[in-house]
Amino acid sequence: MVGGRVSGVNAVARGCILAIMFSGAERPSLITLHDLSREDVSGLLDAAAALRPLRDHTRMDALAGATVVQFFFENSTRTRLSFELAAKRLGAHVVTFDASASSVQKGETLADTIQTIDAMAPDILVMRHASSGAPEFASRFTRAAIVNAGDGARAHPTQALLDALTIRDARGSLDGVRVAIVGDVLHSRVARSNIACLSKFGAFIRVVGPRAFVPDDLTSLGVEVAHDLESGLAGVDVVYLLRIQLERQRDPMFSSGAEYHRRFGLNDCTLRFAPDHAVVMHPGPVNRGVEISRDLLEGERFLVQAQVANGVAIRMAVLSTIWKEMRCG
Ligand code: NCD
Repeated sequence: MVGGRVSGVNAVARGCILAIMFSGAERPSLITLHDLSREDVSGLLDAAAALRPLRDHTRMDALAGATVVQFFFENSTRTRLSFELAAKRLGAHVVTFDASASSVQKGETLADTIQTIDAMAPDILVMRHASSGAPEFASRFTRAAIVNAGDGARAHPTQALLDALTIRDARGSLDGVRVAIVGDVLHSRVARSNIACLSKFGAFIRVVGPRAFVPDDLTSLGVEVAHDLESGLAGVDVVYLLRIQLERQRDPMFSSGAEYHRRFGLNDCTLRFAPDHAVVMHPGPVNRGVEISRDLLEGERFLVQAQVANGVAIRMAVLSTIWKEMRCG
């Protein structure tokens, strides 16, 4: 470690990262949260909380010697930057691959691109892709550990972990938390990973939105379904808003942002449907005036800045746990 004293990586339970098979050998990776236990998740949150005070001038060397390649096939601000900061604060060598400026634009396949990167011997591949299942596909063509930074509408495990840490900070515990996830649940990997994560703590989860975004059969995920904000926000501790993900919709399901806001937008009036203690979260990017009114964004109950800050800490915890497992076997 360089600079100040921060402990905590050791607090992470060994074996808490999903192991996947590659050429007969196991290697640690984080693709979804399904195979992590409640204790695994708590261990990662504890490690992240301990690492949170780290800044660039109080670096640690927990990732010294590791080469982390960021491999983003979809746009990203928060996720990409926070993985990069996290890896650098722990002393890794970080390279960012920009798909829009690469040979992908010349027709190279995903398999060929991954094999090309693999030949340069990265240790950890942080990957975002528009297709669900892309991380498992990629794992067939590289020996690197893979961290899923969002695949299609399926999973975004580190987002759910940073959300869990933010809720735990605000509430003191995750046990029995009551959460309303509002908006475009159908296309949301964030919603799926949050449901998978919070369910481990006995959370009550209600998904709220128009039928086009919140079909009734989502009850198969073990959640309650509501189609209006008044019943949807009743009795919850957390109102978790989602962006309308136009890039994943074949035909736009709303004629305008203003129309969506009239029915499902959060503002001073509709926030009254939730208890006074309820906090408001959003994974970002926020579309002001669509899922939330401009004035609410400035309020104390809106935790998006805390979520972003926790994103760096969670990614430090995940990367350092994987690297430790890679080296210690
Ligand atoms: C989310 C994503 O990309 O899945 N954002 C994020 O990672 N911070 C949600 C979104 O794009 O709406």
